[in-house]
Amino acid sequence: MKWLFLALALAAPSQAGLRFGCSTLSIQRLDPLVQPGVIPSAHLHQIIGGNMFNATMDPTGAFRDEANCTTCFFSQDFSNYWTAVLYFKARNGTYKRVPLYTNADLEGEKGGMTIYYTQQDFETNGNQSITAFKQGFRMTLGNPMANHSTTPGLRYTCLQTVMTRGREEYTLPAQPCPAGIMTVHHFPACWDGVNLDSPDHQSHMYDTGKGGFEVAGPCPASHPVRVPQLAYETLWNTTAFNDKSLWPEDGSQPFVWSTGDDIGYSTHGDYVFGWKGDALQQAMDSSCMFDACGDGKPLLSQSAADLNKCSIKNTVTEETEGWLTALPGH
Ligand SMILES: *[C@@H]1O[C@H](CO)[C@@H](O)[C@H](O)[C@H]1NC(C)=O
Ligand SMILES: *[C@@H]1O[C@H](CO)[C@@H](O)[C@H](O)[C@H]1NC(C)=O
Ligand SMILES: *[C@@H]1O[C@H](CO)[C@@H](O)[C@H](O)[C@H]1NC(C)=O
Ligand SMILES: *[C@@H]1O[C@H](CO)[C@@H](O)[C@H](O)[C@H]1NC(C)=O
Ligand SMILES: *[C@@H]1O[C@H](CO)[C@@H](O)[C@H](O)[C@H]1NC(C)=O
Ligand SMILES: *[C@@H]1O[C@H](CO)[C@@H](O)[C@H](O)[C@H]1NC(C)=O
Repeated sequence: MKWLFLALALAAPSQAGLRFGCSTLSIQRLDPLVQPGVIPSAHLHQIIGGNMFNATMDPTGAFRDEANCTTCFFSQDFSNYWTAVLYFKARNGTYKRVPLYTNADLEGEKGGMTIYYTQQDFETNGNQSITAFKQGFRMTLGNPMANHSTTPGLRYTCLQTVMTRGREEYTLPAQPCPAGIMTVHHFPACWDGVNLDSPDHQSHMYDTGKGGFEVAGPCPASHPVRVPQLAYETLWNTTAFNDKSLWPEDGSQPFVWSTGDDIGYSTHGDYVFGWKGDALQQAMDSSCMFDACGDGKPLLSQSAADLNKCSIKNTVTEETEGWLTALPGH
């Protein structure tokens, strides 16, 4: 533990916060963290990040040195980030994938997600030393089998406009949302300081988050190391499905996760760290904010045209678009 003490003692408090877009890399049934090597995995995911994503992804994290492109704005970020996929279920029982769209203030990315690495949360951005994740670090948030919700970091926002923030729900919104549905994945930010992963991919982490945009509580002695507050925002463009005459006649809402869940408790997110070298630590030790962390200050960044060139070949080639008679894998 000596190295850890030294690292904490040397790092000065800082105020950096990253917010950036990453285009969709792939939509397929792979789950290298929870079902490594299983082709295809149980349910469909949408994935962003580096081009070494595959069904097994070396747990040592060495893939970050083999990757040579990423769909993320910061071109040193070869991490992969993924969530389940949202479908619309029509009255006739067929399913259509809900398209993804790009967040406010991000130009040119295609679908994908918005990623945050902050001190505490988006509004009160702290002033503390943050220890970046290490090579081989991975974690999950949420549970695809969940029947109820107790995780403050897993929420839904019914978007009146692309800018709507604040009111968050634990379940899929009951009414049509004019600008679509935003799913929020706020990961735990307290690490045990030792394990890069754990058998359930969660117990090496501890969540002191309170949900919404509230400042998280201090890390407990069992998980004393404050790592970046990682969060995903995913924007689902439900516009084509917002006509209530298309919704179920019993008054329920029509959206369903690729897990088969039409309530929303199964929402989950997965993370495999893959920043090159110590780029993420450098960013967290600086005081840069959002896009201004790019262009070499201190991170390297790339144009939307360049990040949109990054792609991978799908290993699982099945129909995921069109009107499907069943969800992929169900
Ligand atoms: C995934 O990529 C690694 C190289 O990083 C390779 O060794 C491995 O065989 C690949 N796995 C699959 C299932 O393609
Ligand atoms: C990136 O890696 C892929 C797969 O290993 C390879 O086919 C491609 O030529 C590489 N591209 C560059 C620009 O190095
Ligand atoms: C099922 O309903 C959807 C939406 O109304 C429609 O686009 C599709 O063609 C229908 N499919 C069949 C087989 O009727
Ligand atoms: C952040 O903390 C450092 C060290 O405690 C202090 O010098 C600095 O003034 C603080 N910055 C802000 C903006 O509070
Ligand atoms: C969800 O409910 C089912 C059936 O009641 C049960 O078997 C399962 O263990 C529950 N899952 C969780 C995560 O509580
Ligand atoms: C959302 O979907 C609608 C209907 O398909 C489309 O007209 C609109 O351009 C999409 N909006 C965005 C921001 O992609």
